[in-house]
Amino acid sequence: MYEFLTGPVLWLTFAVFFIGLAARFVWYVRGLDWKLDRVAYRQWPKYGIRGALRSIGFWLLPWGTRSWQVKPVFTLVFFAFHIGLLVTPIFLLGHNLLLDERWGFALPTLPAGVASFFTVMVMVAGLFLVIRRIALPEVRILTTWYDYLVLIIAVAPFATGYLAANHIGDYGFWLNIHIVTGIIWIVAIPLTKLSHFLMFFLTRAQIGMDYGIKRGGMKSKGMAW
Ligand code: HEM
Repeated sequence: MYEFLTGPVLWLTFAVFFIGLAARFVWYVRGLDWKLDRVAYRQWPKYGIRGALRSIGFWLLPWGTRSWQVKPVFTLVFFAFHIGLLVTPIFLLGHNLLLDERWGFALPTLPAGVASFFTVMVMVAGLFLVIRRIALPEVRILTTWYDYLVLIIAVAPFATGYLAANHIGDYGFWLNIHIVTGIIWIVAIPLTKLSHFLMFFLTRAQIGMDYGIKRGGMKSKGMAW
């Protein structure tokens, strides 16, 4: 089972991940309106790229935008959640041993204590995000079962990995469940709203270009919009 999941199934999983994200990218760019977007973006690439990088950069900075500043505690939890989500799986010793064994290369790895801390941080922050969706009326009204499902998919490999790594319960069982939930995690990125992994950058780039060129960005340069 382990060999099958970490062999052919993992290959298929990464194929879905990369092909799915490439399709999302093409789909998004082709969906841009030529009258509203393309004409201005093509004409003024320098202002466009500057606006795009500004928008992405400030959103990637904790408290870098007004939206991040008005909810400082949520911002902290949200960044802790995402740092754990992205850093832990890539730099985990166990994952890199597998990578080395299967594909002959490995990345630098996190000390065990840090990896363990990040894993717990993802679980605690995930719980906080669930409570936030229940407790805040303005968030609750927008929340459907799909939002909880996405949160469960995001956190499941961390919970199961924690159980396996700490030998809580049957190690072999939790390891296989960890691999399956990890595969669902990777496949869900292009197929669900976890596609914001890529779409965040595309949508922020588009809005940044819009503001960098049309909505005031080029006011002093005589741009009429
Ligand atoms: C570079 C990659 C990523 C960026 C820039 C990013 C950014 C964001 C942003 C801006 C939000 C919306 C926050 C809000 O509600 O105001 C969000 C939400 C969320 N992200 Fe990501 N994300 C990334 C990767 C991921 C990955 C890989 C996962 C998990 C597989 C993930 C899971 C989530 C979840 C579950 C939420 C919803 C949280 C909630 O229910 O409130 N993100 N992300």
